[in-house]
Amino acid sequence: MKPVRKAVFPVAGLGTRLLPATKTMPKEMLTIVDRPLIQYAVDEAREAGIEQIIFVTGRGKSSLVDYFDLGFELEVAMQSAGKSLDKLDCSRADYGEIVSVRQQRPLGLGHAVWCARHIVGDEPFAVLLPDDLMIGQPGALKQMVDAYADLGGNIVCAEEVPANRTRNYGIITPGEIKGRATEVLGLVEKPAPEDAPSRLGVVGRYILQPEVMDIIGRAEPGAGGEIQLTDAMAELIGLQPFHALTVQAVRHDCGDKAGFVLANLAIALDRPDLAPLIEDYLARR
Ligand code: G1P
Repeated sequence: MKPVRKAVFPVAGLGTRLLPATKTMPKEMLTIVDRPLIQYAVDEAREAGIEQIIFVTGRGKSSLVDYFDLGFELEVAMQSAGKSLDKLDCSRADYGEIVSVRQQRPLGLGHAVWCARHIVGDEPFAVLLPDDLMIGQPGALKQMVDAYADLGGNIVCAEEVPANRTRNYGIITPGEIKGRATEVLGLVEKPAPEDAPSRLGVVGRYILQPEVMDIIGRAEPGAGGEIQLTDAMAELIGLQPFHALTVQAVRHDCGDKAGFVLANLAIALDRPDLAPLIEDYLARR
């Protein structure tokens, strides 16, 4: 079985749910405490053994790719001014190979993933949606890569979603349950609550086999008129092993204003330098 070495980050979206902040700023560059949202997902991928980071970007998203370069001019300027580089430590890690490819038209998540097909080639790959900030030890993708060693095939990260929220997720028809893994018998994108086969929703982490790319290549638009990753994945069911994994992690939907604020709070409350001030403020409120 080939290892999962590559990860696709679809980051071309307009971030309309976070307007006006995202008018001139990629949502992935908005900060959660002191680092951009995208860094959490990239760090999670690196922890899971990912060697190649593939950004599927679009217009106005270049700062996101630049962020992962060493800030050479900045470092030289800071050093010659006698300033410490400590604050940059978390962004000076070895990020492996960074590749970016453009999604030139907003045709949906499936299409975004397909834009990376030539870079992914003939090997299994991960997809991370940075909006879904996952806080776990080890990280969500590492837990999935570990499960992949036993299960192979395709694995989506999943969690129970409220019954009235099925329209926001890909929803799973569950089969046999083996520990944290559930066999996937069907997938449907954003069903109405009355049509949903369960409340088990796909959240933004995937391990997929390369065959999904050919399926996306001949896909017709699905829910919302977009080329859906969910529809292409559904075609793999029965042909390849397909599981949903419930990971031990807390998810924050940072594409949403409340989720974004909660993610900031959650991360800050885990930081000894920040937690006392914030706890004190919350107690007073
Ligand atoms: C996408 C997927 C959906 C998945 C969700 C997880 O939807 O299409 O299947 O459940 O991410 O966050 P989006 O949030 O881009 O509308």
